[in-house]
Amino acid sequence: MPKKTVADIDVTGKKVLMRVDFNVPLDGTTITDDRRIAQALPTIKSVIDRGGRLILMSHLGRPKAGPEAKFSLAPCAAHLSTLLGKKVTFTSDCIGNEVDQAVTMMKEGDVVLMENLRFHKEEEKNDSVFAKKLASIADVYVNDAFGTAHREHASTFGAPQAMQGKPRVIGFLIEKELKFLGEAVSTPARPFVAIMGGAKVSDKIQVIEQLLAKADTLLIGGAMAYTFFLAQGKQVGKSLVERDKVALAKTLLEKYGSKIKLPIDTVISDKMSDDAVTSIVEGNIPDDKEGFDIGPKTSAIYAELIQSAKTVIWNGPMGVFEKKPFQAGTKAVALACAAATATGATTIIGGGDSAAAVEVFGLADQVSHVSTGGGASLEFLENGHFSTIDLLDN
Ligand code: 3PG
Ligand code: MG
Repeated sequence: MPKKTVADIDVTGKKVLMRVDFNVPLDGTTITDDRRIAQALPTIKSVIDRGGRLILMSHLGRPKAGPEAKFSLAPCAAHLSTLLGKKVTFTSDCIGNEVDQAVTMMKEGDVVLMENLRFHKEEEKNDSVFAKKLASIADVYVNDAFGTAHREHASTFGAPQAMQGKPRVIGFLIEKELKFLGEAVSTPARPFVAIMGGAKVSDKIQVIEQLLAKADTLLIGGAMAYTFFLAQGKQVGKSLVERDKVALAKTLLEKYGSKIKLPIDTVISDKMSDDAVTSIVEGNIPDDKEGFDIGPKTSAIYAELIQSAKTVIWNGPMGVFEKKPFQAGTKAVALACAAATATGATTIIGGGDSAAAVEVFGLADQVSHVSTGGGASLEFLENGHFSTIDLLDN
């Protein structure tokens, strides 16, 4: 059933509690990638332009034991203020007197951002007392934190539960993410090509199985390819592998063999560094070497398959793209996605490393959709829904 969005409700004069995912990468107090903040702006503006009193909450990082300066959301408050061109009041906690006072003082169109929810261990435990405290300050609940939609935490689960009877809706970012990811798997234009990379098969096994059932072709890259090499009886040298997943890889090859494409050549070296000396091998990887990227022949084959697709979903880099000698494979895939988009394909880049890659290569604007959720997009492709969103208004 379609979800109500913030556009469907009256927010004028209301206290609107909005969960966002401002878990952005920081270098000290400098935000190095503000996509998650920028992508929440349409929902934020929709509330304040209509005279809502907007109270934003988020987590940042994974603080262990209470408040830690390096996980403060203060830099996000400053950046949001710049993006909006208006004052954003920052509170040093997400519950308590300071919050209550700040909320009481708010006028229509004002914005408050509260400090990191995870400074309270109750957030991740979905503690009901903590959730009720968060819920108690507002008339309306909005969730636009796609990147955190797979977490049943107090701010994403307990708080909206506690607000039953009040409007509880999704924002435009979640709406957009669900549209792209949902349509890609339920009604894909074909050919539908899925691309999986990254280090481990184990992280993505459920998604791989789901996608194999739905996609026409699955391209595999990254270190996870070497576990499949072992399943094919190939030598992998010192490459990263998961020996306990070889049997599984074998089963997948037997069941879906014709759909699965594996690298035919590999960029190898004896070290993973910016000055590494590389060579290319077809087939077996020598004993003293490690695979760090797909080779040029594989890149060409993958690029051609991507460019003839009508739907593409990509999750995980083809190699260690952060290091110059090993970025060609990931770049070739990113360029092919951009080329496919230009000729009318829908191309969806999962969050996390593949999103970072298209950003690094300057191609983020040339694909259909770059997800703001890494783990969340994988979980959505796997399960097709989120409990945190199911409980919001239809
Ligand atoms: C993410 O970056 O994956 C989300 O913000 C969720 O964070 P988490 O993985 O620490 O729960
Ligand atoms: Mg995560």
